[in-house]
Amino acid sequence: MNKIKEILIGTNNKGKYREISNLLPNKVKIHSLNEFNILSPKETGKTFKENSFIKASYFSRKTKLICLSDDSGLEIDLLKGEPGIYSSRWSGKKNDFNLAINKIFKKMKNTKKNWESFNSARFICCITIFWPNGKSFSSKGMIKGKISNVKKGKNGFGYDPIFIPHGYDQTFGEMKSKLKMSIDHRFKAFLKINKFFI
Ligand code: IMP
Repeated sequence: MNKIKEILIGTNNKGKYREISNLLPNKVKIHSLNEFNILSPKETGKTFKENSFIKASYFSRKTKLICLSDDSGLEIDLLKGEPGIYSSRWSGKKNDFNLAINKIFKKMKNTKKNWESFNSARFICCITIFWPNGKSFSSKGMIKGKISNVKKGKNGFGYDPIFIPHGYDQTFGEMKSKLKMSIDHRFKAFLKINKFFI
């Protein structure tokens, strides 16, 4: 198997870009979408896997580079898996996560009064690598936890200030980024693809 020495990280999300570039071995030459003038494709898939494939194959075809894209999100049991694949879209056109988080608090309150005592959630990440010859590989990672009833911490991005992983008291937003990145859904998905790299 030819090991990957050069790759495009197919995301316009700065938080994801930072995490993925830190997970890749130092020797790998990384390209970002900033080098190209390409808008993201419509995420028309019904699953994380379909959407990560749509992004990786689209950016690879446009740039002729091997591309790695992730599709990820938060699934909350009391909300029947919402926001799920719509995690990004809940933040609106301006990517305002105060909006998305307040929407979650409002919906949780509508399910039961003491929702914070009984809730479970998980972050899911599906990573697809797409090669210009049409080959692809996808892997999935998950971390279980619960939703905090207040926002805590300024680290990370997206829903990090309200997600408390199992076995910890802090939200991802309060955790040092090194710790988050060594246990989270993206890291777990990455464990299954690092065999492709030098
Ligand atoms: P998409 O994969 O581009 O559709 O966006 C996934 C969305 O899920 C992101 O915009 C974040 O809001 C959220 N998300 C995914 N992974 C994480 C994470 O590690 N921390 C916080 N939010 C995340």
